[in-house]
Amino acid sequence: MQLRGTTGARRGRDSLVDMTTSTFAAPVLNFRRPTVADHLGITTSIPGWWGTPNSATLPLLLPRLFLQHFADTSTIVEDEGGELAGFLIGFRSQSQPETGYIHFVGVRPDQRGTGLGRMLYEKFFAEMRALGCTRVDAATSVLNTGSQEFHRAMGFAFEGDTDFNGVPGWVDYDGPEQHRVSFSRAL
Ligand SMILES: CC(C)(COP(=O)(O)OP(=O)(O)OC[C@H]1O[C@@H](n2cnc3c(N)ncnc32)[C@H](O)[C@@H]1OP(=O)(O)O)[C@@H](O)C(=O)NCCC(=O)NCCS
Repeated sequence: MQLRGTTGARRGRDSLVDMTTSTFAAPVLNFRRPTVADHLGITTSIPGWWGTPNSATLPLLLPRLFLQHFADTSTIVEDEGGELAGFLIGFRSQSQPETGYIHFVGVRPDQRGTGLGRMLYEKFFAEMRALGCTRVDAATSVLNTGSQEFHRAMGFAFEGDTDFNGVPGWVDYDGPEQHRVSFSRAL
């Protein structure tokens, strides 16, 4: 799937779609399924894209198996030059077949605010609906306020039993000191 993007500051949630009919040249974004050959590029990008204190270790949360076993429900976005512009790694839960789960999403810093993250999520929502899912879950660090605001904008409810600076979260959710806020959204 190819879509024309936009340049400059934020253009609104539907901008990528609207611009497909634009008369002036705009960057083309190519959406495709990942392969294992994409693993190194994704994991190399994560530290710089996240830029959080723990970002050097974040690639460990995305081992190669995700591209071996969840490629059919994940998406890679490349710019006109074939450079990685964004990605979403998600899957349908085997244990909860009514649930889709988004494990990782990233948009290259210069591509943010253009609606690309929303587009990746809405594409995944549509794919999960088609499989019969009725909800999508995700989780993020209690410190990742950007991710929290993105999920709020995407209609997710926050879940947690402990207050982390005004955000509900779960203590030791993913291991010692790995506090998380979990999200859920009906489809
Ligand atoms: C979170 C991330 C994927 C958002 O991507 P994006 O392409 O900039 O998001 P969009 O432009 O599609 O924005 C979608 C909505 O989220 C909101 N949003 C996105 N980031 C936001 C932020 N940091 N603060 C407040 N709102 C934000 C937008 O305002 C927009 O709302 P609207 O559609 O109602 O106007 C991107 O910032 C990123 O890659 N961050 C680093 C990695 C990360 O933290 N990933 C999530 C945890 S796995």
